Amino acid sequence: MNKILVELGKNAYPVFIGEGILENLGEMLNLYNLSGQVVVISDLNVHKHYGEALTKSLNFSKKASHLIFIHGGERSKSFRTIEKILTQMLELGCDRNSVVLAFGGGVVGDIAGFVASVYKRGIPYLQVPTTLLAQVDSSLGGKTGVNHPLGKNMIGTFYQPKMVWTDLTVLQTLPKREIVCGLGEIIKYGVIKDAELFKLVEDRLHEIVALDLELLQEIVLRCCQIKAGIVAEDEKETGPRMVLNFGHTIGHALEAEMGYKKISHGEAVLLGMLAESRMALNLNILDIGDFQRIERLISRFELSGKLNRVEVGRLLKFIKADKKSSSGHTKFVLPRKIGEVEIVDEVSEDLIRSSLAPIL
Ligand SMILES: NC(=O)c1ccc[n+]([C@@H]2O[C@H](COP(=O)([O-])OP(=O)(O)OC[C@H]3O[C@@H](n4cnc5c(N)ncnc54)[C@H](O)[C@@H]3O)[C@@H](O)[C@H]2O)c1
Ligand SMILES: [Zn+2]
Repeated sequence: MNKILVELGKNAYPVFIGEGILENLGEMLNLYNLSGQVVVISDLNVHKHYGEALTKSLNFSKKASHLIFIHGGERSKSFRTIEKILTQMLELGCDRNSVVLAFGGGVVGDIAGFVASVYKRGIPYLQVPTTLLAQVDSSLGGKTGVNHPLGKNMIGTFYQPKMVWTDLTVLQTLPKREIVCGLGEIIKYGVIKDAELFKLVEDRLHEIVALDLELLQEIVLRCCQIKAGIVAEDEKETGPRMVLNFGHTIGHALEAEMGYKKISHGEAVLLGMLAESRMALNLNILDIGDFQRIERLISRFELSGKLNRVEVGRLLKFIKADKKSSSGHTKFVLPRKIGEVEIVDEVSEDLIRSSLAPIL
């Protein structure tokens, strides 16, 4: 088992990554003095596969636990879901010692973290991520929240978990589409900070998709190390953390424009990275060789046809409403080369349009 520390002073927490460790989770809660009743928030799909194993582990360690289910999928990331969960927790009599356990992908994690941050002004929570995307990205860093019809992740908090418990074996039941979503974030780490990781994905994509757990252990560890380092430097995204948004300015706009249906977050990020790399190429920030490597890798996922009836005008509106915008300027994170990015805030509308055209 590997352990990484997200170094945030009194809010520091460990990320454990291993195989077959779900069964030890109950023990770990006791070890970390998380003694209150556990509220597991999960989706039915995850519960079907691993609910029993989790319950067994909690029972074995004599932890009182309750289960709250949400519907899987991005459309659940709404205020309605938050209100429903908070009501159930009040009805269950959860107090300030209760512990929220997010058991699922990024949707469950973002919702459960948000709930934990506002329930009785904040109770502890932990992340037990079950998708590749959540294991490499959303389970650490403490961004929580929900979507709004006017924009993705517009309502939320920064609220760090007490621990991240990542069992790679649960990936074995993940559909291929979800593996591709995780690859979106993995490729992002490669482009922003780790050229070797990018090359590893180029060379060994088949093994990743076939869920070679040894290889995934290395990749998940590497991504978590990068993210932990960036978050420790800039927890609330006032500067350096912004680089994690490569591909996301356009990606989030695509998700919002599609009404959070038909395209998933990871797929939107892959297309967003393609358009934003073209933007960098057109601005002469990125050379054609590296652009083509990014384009070739992303085109291996066959995402054409994912976007239908996307209206550029509306897309631009979402892009301008991005959280990184200020005084009418949208900031873009653009690659200088594979492994290095810069933040650019003077991008003309024409350039945004011409960079989008090939993906629409
Ligand atoms: N907080 C952050 O820092 C951060 C970072 C990146 C992404 N996100 C958010 O994460 C969300 C996307 O997360 P996601 O891609 O994990 O999607 P998801 O949570 O919707 O999970 C995808 C699907 O996989 C199923 N699933 C989960 N684990 C499974 C398993 N082990 N076996 C079989 N099926 C399984 C789920 O039931 C769901 O149907 C987006 O809302 C995005 O905004 C947040
Ligand atoms: Zn993302």
